[in-house]
Amino acid sequence: METAMTFQEEIKQGIPSVLPEAKPYSANANHAPKRKDILSVEEKQLAVRNALRYFPKEWHQELATEFAQELKDLGRIYMYRFKPSFHMKARSIADYPAKCQQAAAIMLMVDNNLDPAVAQHPEELITYGGNGAVFQNWAQYLLAMKYLSEMENDQTLHIYSGHPMGLFPSSADAPRVVVTNGMMIPNYSKPDDLEKFNALGVTQYGQMTAGSFMYIGPQGIVHGTTITVMNAFRKVLNKGEGPQGKIFLTAGLGGMSGAQPKAGNIANCITVCAEVNASAATKRHQQGWVDELIDNIDGLVARVKEAQANEEVVSIAYIGNIVDVWESFYEHEVYVHLGSDQTSLHNPWSGGYYPVDISFEESNRLIREEPEVFKEKVQATLIRHANAINKHTARGTYFFDYGNAFLLEASRAGGDVMAENGIDFKYPSYVQDILGPMCFDYGFGPFRWVCASGKPEDLDKTDAIAASVLKKIMQESPEEIQQQMQDNITWIEDAKQNKLVVGSQARILYADAQGRMEIAKAFNDAVNSGEIGPVVLGRDHHDVSGTDSPYRETSNIYDGSRFTADMAIHNVIGDSFRGATWVSIHNGGGVGWGEVVNGGFGMLLDGSAASERRLKSMLLFDVNNGIARRSWARNEEANFAIKREMARTPKLKVTLANLVEDDILNNLSL
Ligand SMILES: NC(=O)c1ccc[n+]([C@@H]2O[C@H](COP(=O)([O-])OP(=O)(O)OC[C@H]3O[C@@H](n4cnc5c(N)ncnc54)[C@H](O)[C@@H]3O)[C@@H](O)[C@H]2O)c1
Repeated sequence: METAMTFQEEIKQGIPSVLPEAKPYSANANHAPKRKDILSVEEKQLAVRNALRYFPKEWHQELATEFAQELKDLGRIYMYRFKPSFHMKARSIADYPAKCQQAAAIMLMVDNNLDPAVAQHPEELITYGGNGAVFQNWAQYLLAMKYLSEMENDQTLHIYSGHPMGLFPSSADAPRVVVTNGMMIPNYSKPDDLEKFNALGVTQYGQMTAGSFMYIGPQGIVHGTTITVMNAFRKVLNKGEGPQGKIFLTAGLGGMSGAQPKAGNIANCITVCAEVNASAATKRHQQGWVDELIDNIDGLVARVKEAQANEEVVSIAYIGNIVDVWESFYEHEVYVHLGSDQTSLHNPWSGGYYPVDISFEESNRLIREEPEVFKEKVQATLIRHANAINKHTARGTYFFDYGNAFLLEASRAGGDVMAENGIDFKYPSYVQDILGPMCFDYGFGPFRWVCASGKPEDLDKTDAIAASVLKKIMQESPEEIQQQMQDNITWIEDAKQNKLVVGSQARILYADAQGRMEIAKAFNDAVNSGEIGPVVLGRDHHDVSGTDSPYRETSNIYDGSRFTADMAIHNVIGDSFRGATWVSIHNGGGVGWGEVVNGGFGMLLDGSAASERRLKSMLLFDVNNGIARRSWARNEEANFAIKREMARTPKLKVTLANLVEDDILNNLSL
């Protein structure tokens, strides 16, 4: 009788030697939407020809028919038949069949990104964002994992948009894996180019942490939103005043936006979040992400006034349209301290943003049956939305764009959101006003780690280590960064009780270069002494140095260089030869294909002296590369931070910008 293979055997086997049975399309999985049918007949043939490269000739007839059908039904070839039979999840590092620990660490991170409890469309190898792929198909997964299981300490696996090109001889200090996702000749980087070349099987959209094996579930977004809301309140409150009893008004309880009420509670304010989709609001309520549900506007006004009077910390979901809330709060003189919006305005015409005065069901009917009417209603609503916000800001509300294209679409609809110069918007984006100057320019960014043993006790220990390191550093920190230090100490002390772990035992906090290096060194010492198992370090690409994105991460760069991508490229190259265990560089992520270049790293801390040497060398560069660029762009906070780093690090010598008097320029005849 044939016995089932163990997990280890299945990984080591790679592409099986016997053709596995075809797998039925699993009806209850959350599948990726059907992709655009964009290929010509010849190109469809090419896509199937490309897919068959992974398999022996004798299987071609059978697989060709099957893959052609997948292409027809889904717009892509996922090779469902080759999905492994074992349960996909991050196992303990010790469970992976590997010749080197670094390879085993990468395997566990790959599996985490594909865990059905973590990934959005696990059957299609999509981790998040609708299109953030780990691999393009299951053959690539099988091959990559096999290579990782065979890899020795002096080899590097090169992965081209999910395709494992092969293991190449390198050295112990080289990265074990180099990943590129969606890298194109610049002229071939329009949205339809992605559809076409992805359908051909030669490129993929890696988002940020999907194709770089560094996703940690919703924890990252909750932390980022918390930091944003806390710092936004600081911009508007007087010294000594707290956010208790003050309102943060916003919209959206979807994938990312659902983090807003949770973040508002951590930031200690009253969060009012409108959501037109009753089932999305109810789901967030059931999950404990929002405290209360209210479905009528009078009830909402009364409840909010009560919460203000009692200085409560509470989050309230209003089931209905955000425009009704802005208008009715104005009429009833409810003062809003902070306002923003996280409806999906990057996708305004097919359900990302719902018009006011029409039911949710009727809107969905219009999308399907009368798209032009729907579009008009959306644009009219955006104008009303902008007018209502303008009335509040005239009373003193601080409004910021949350990277969801609200200002862009409101301006296209003819809403009153342009600044007097007719070029800029009246309101800032969250990076221009908050994350850029208050965090990134000082080097604070989304440092994260995963306890590779898979043990929750290890995560508790690392939380305690990180908190004690930050507290020690804070004693000597300059005034400029005290607040960021304190926020992250509070965050890490409360992290366990906020119950944010999904999948691997992961944690995130914001730290600067010194913080990241000292926390990493303390972890490495703890691994060395046997207190904890190995730790994988990483970060989101949405960081100081990792991402060039002119309307988001680098939107507060004002010397004209925000349309360049040199920083992200230098970052990934620089990290790769300073000791990263793996590096990745992507076209697209967050704001779209062709709109951003972003990169990141992963690093295994195994307690060795080599790990200590690598973490010091790489983390110093990984953060200060971006600070140097931000300082050269004349950002005052970055100038402060890089001078501090040069004083601490004699071998660091950064070119500093000289500032010119405005008068000299104003008097030029140009
Ligand atoms: N959270 C962040 O840090 C961050 C960063 C950058 C960009 N964003 C952007 O935020 C947006 C939201 O992302 P998501 O993943 O939550 O999207 P999503 O589509 O899952 O959620 C948006 C929600 O808004 C609701 N909605 C739409 N119109 C509404 C209206 N008029 N009134 C009330 N509710 C309405 C929808 O029903 C939906 O549930 C995206 O555009 C994303 O790119 C978020």
